[in-house]
Amino acid sequence: MRTVLGIESSCDETAAALVTSDRTILAQRIASQDDAHGPYGGVVPEIAARAHAERLAPLIAATLADAGMTLDQVDAIAATAGPGLIGGVMVGLVTAKALAMASDKPLIAVNHLEGHALSPRLADASLQYPYLLLLVSGGHCQILLVEGLGRFRRLATTIDDALGEAFDKSAKVLGLGYPGGPALERLALEGDARKVPLPRPLKGSDEPHFSFAGLKSAVLRAKQSGDYADADIAAAFQQAAIDCLVDRLQRALALAGPVEALVVAGGVAANTAIRSALEALAARQGLPFIAPPLGLCTDNAAMIAWAGLERLERGQSDPLDVAARPRWPL
Ligand code: KG4
Ligand code: ZN
Repeated sequence: MRTVLGIESSCDETAAALVTSDRTILAQRIASQDDAHGPYGGVVPEIAARAHAERLAPLIAATLADAGMTLDQVDAIAATAGPGLIGGVMVGLVTAKALAMASDKPLIAVNHLEGHALSPRLADASLQYPYLLLLVSGGHCQILLVEGLGRFRRLATTIDDALGEAFDKSAKVLGLGYPGGPALERLALEGDARKVPLPRPLKGSDEPHFSFAGLKSAVLRAKQSGDYADADIAAAFQQAAIDCLVDRLQRALALAGPVEALVVAGGVAANTAIRSALEALAARQGLPFIAPPLGLCTDNAAMIAWAGLERLERGQSDPLDVAARPRWPL
């Protein structure tokens, strides 16, 4: 059995985790920077990079201590090498390089999106390729056919905003704090979606792409009109988003051919209403529905360690001069 140390620092979570090849998370620590970025209503790259630089090394030491391990007992070091905010990515990747060099262990440069995409396989050993994956986070909104490790066919993307971004911006319009997704979901529980008419951009279109900019603007207009309660706007926004996701996924399933499961990953997959709607869609299609537990949906290092493990087990690793990549499509 192998153990990989995973490091994540591509956005505003500083995280480290130790994961074994039998899918046990031996230890994991996540330091959120929400407090630092909250006053600005979004992630400030320079503040994020400095916070990662201060927190990462002690966080890794604490994670190793939690598991009662030393670096010598780890089989490889995996870190997010992109895509993401370059300052933070470099802090994590350079730290991983130093640890790999000092301990003479392989380095694995992980694509953050691959981390999200494979996280359901960490959570569920039964999940086989190929699967249809909805990857929805603050920066990404894609439908991928996952055919194997490193083998992704992108069936759809967003033509403007990512869904998490639309959640965050709509939450801001409604005066909710940052990050807005979870706050908007809570407020939506108290509202009635039918009271606010909102558009379903691209619904019914041939290609399964997404668009959320128009929905976000409609939320702003609804708020500015003064005609609606905030909770009703929140509920209507969430329902419109769900209708779009379900419609676009139905289209993608028709295009993808046979798959083993419908899978969701990424920060927005933490949304309970979205999970239930996708579960119902999968049931209608006769497919298993797989969603990682909430803590594996938002940014974390266990998914990076797991993607590293999948690569390590196929004999893959990276040289010490591997570059950080702010843009790195799957
Ligand atoms: O994957 P993630 O942690 O970071 C990125 O790689 O982007 O995703 C963060 C995004 C944020 O936009 C956040 O508002 C959204 O996921 N999010 C949610 C919920 N929890 C997190 N959106 C809707 N409902 C939630 N419960
Ligand atoms: Zn992410």
